Amino acid sequence: MRTHYCGLVTEALIGQTVTVCGWADVARNLGGVCFIDLRDHEGIVQVVAEVDVARPETAAIFADAAAVGYEDCLRITGTVRARHSVNDKIATGRVEIVASTIEILNKSDKLPFYSHETPGEDVRLKYRYLDLRSPVMQKRMRKRIALVQALRRYLDAAGFQDIETPILTKATPEGARDYLVPSRVHAGEFFALPQSPQLFKQLLMMAGMDRYYQIARCFRDEDLRADRQPEFTQLDMEFAFVTERDIQDFVEGMVRAIFKEVQDVSLADPFPRLSYAEAMRRYGSDKPDLRIALELVDVAETVKGCEFKVFTDWANHEDGRVAALRLPGGATLSRKQIDEAAAHAAKHGAKGLAWMRVDDLAKGREGINSPIAKFLDDATLSALLAQTGAQTGDLVFFGAGPWKSVCDFMGALRLKVARDAGLVADTWAPLWVTDFPMFEWDADESRYVALHHPFTAPRVDDEADLRANARTAVSRGYDMVLNGNEIGGGSVRIHRSSMQSAVFDLLGISKDEAQAKFGFLLEALRYGAPPHGGIAFGIDRMAALLAGTDSIRDVIAFPKTASAQCLLTSAPSPVPDRQLAELHIRVRDVGAASAATPADRG
Ligand code: AMO
Ligand code: AMP
Repeated sequence: MRTHYCGLVTEALIGQTVTVCGWADVARNLGGVCFIDLRDHEGIVQVVAEVDVARPETAAIFADAAAVGYEDCLRITGTVRARHSVNDKIATGRVEIVASTIEILNKSDKLPFYSHETPGEDVRLKYRYLDLRSPVMQKRMRKRIALVQALRRYLDAAGFQDIETPILTKATPEGARDYLVPSRVHAGEFFALPQSPQLFKQLLMMAGMDRYYQIARCFRDEDLRADRQPEFTQLDMEFAFVTERDIQDFVEGMVRAIFKEVQDVSLADPFPRLSYAEAMRRYGSDKPDLRIALELVDVAETVKGCEFKVFTDWANHEDGRVAALRLPGGATLSRKQIDEAAAHAAKHGAKGLAWMRVDDLAKGREGINSPIAKFLDDATLSALLAQTGAQTGDLVFFGAGPWKSVCDFMGALRLKVARDAGLVADTWAPLWVTDFPMFEWDADESRYVALHHPFTAPRVDDEADLRANARTAVSRGYDMVLNGNEIGGGSVRIHRSSMQSAVFDLLGISKDEAQAKFGFLLEALRYGAPPHGGIAFGIDRMAALLAGTDSIRDVIAFPKTASAQCLLTSAPSPVPDRQLAELHIRVRDVGAASAATPADRG
């Protein structure tokens, strides 16, 4: 149907006849001359139809052009010529096509929104096919495709086996709720959609496949955010006969090569490495954004004898933390901005946020403005200033509370104040976070939960040792972090059945439950399972970073909303009673069910 793409019509084609297809981005009728911006995935080219009295046929072409409306689907033939007024903003800006025929392949109805508007996301998602036509969305989606292609090429060349694993399967716990699929044949029984291919990839290593990868769809019924979707895509990988360092070295090399190829970016070599403990201490986060230089400083020792009860309480508490964050130049913050910072910290769990403005360091106490200065003696005050490195013109924030909570809110505060102050360097900052705790204590449920997943190996080899020191046990898990986003996570796995049973036991999973849920794994581990490990990368998150957008929805063709709905197809939706009956399902209470999760509805 066409000889060229719109966006690729260049000066080399001047004088030639071309046929292009696409959509009318805009059509401008100036009376006697009509311009159409014709758009395809490569870009936009200007088409011109002008009435030439010497050539009567031009009147008909002009009439065709004048009838063109927004987003009409067109096929246009014409001659390429140099343009009078060059448009340097587009690649085809030095040429235009003088139309000889304009064929309307399909007229567009009045549009729900115009490409030049920025409609709300709900409208964009309902008419996603129109939204995706836009050059920015085309670019984002093609960036994602380039990423996946480059990853596949790299892994195929390195001898990885691309193996599909089941979608209708049994629950694999990754910390979210399952999406369930009722079985028609087995009344009252359900498949779970995989939260990840975790157990199958481990079984593949036991099956001697040695190195596996899959671009795998994962399903998790969890609270959604900009970086989380109920279904998302992983680059899932597993290796047999490896240590964590083997895996990390390989995938770090892969990520570096892919960023060079897809983005022409040279990432650090090697990536910096931080233990979980150090990341939390210095940045208040297990996915620190290292583009920001600001660091937290522990001041519990300095304030543990002061007059401010909140500080002393937590400074002397076994599980407490008192941390400071210096914002260079922060003295210019207004009271309103400080209140906003405190509100942000409160949103992340802070019960209060103390601060100290250094108007003039040389003046000692006189040069300090702070609601807590009155509680601090001169020695404590100057020790705090020295310890945080505060200079005239700075603002220092202080947070006190339970250790994890202070990490969370001071970490969130660090990101906010750095962003607001323009202190995020324009660079790429990857790193490894390692040495995660094996377990986290869930106070509500009074039991340990796995920080990665229950198949992650502990550092210690001995089950008795693990049981005796569960609270402080370190795992062989690791995350890859880029610009403050966790883009990948993995671990060396447990490859002995007895250790796997011990971990289930520590997680409060009874023998019977372990047998019912994971009996196949415990059994498989008994037939000479090799040491193995792996990692999974969030393709959507990587693509979003490469495409320069904050939301993974922008790099997913048909994403769901924050309430896990597809606005385009109106899924999920009710089904006829007959279909439910076949599945042996009766919906209990439609009113309550419509607000509940799909799992609850089953
Ligand atoms: P994990 O749960 O850490 O590990 O997931 C791996 C990576 O997948 C991405 N990710 C998500 N992306 C979008 N939406 C979500 N809801 C979502 N959840 C996770 C993140 C994350 O780093 N089986 C293990 C991997 C392993 O141990 O090999 C797993 O799934 O980028
Ligand atoms: P108060 O005496 O309660 O008004 O608190 C004095 C200052 O300490 C205020 O600026 C509070 O925001 C701050 N503050 C209160 N609780 C905390 C906390 N847990 N961590 C840091 N600062 C706090």
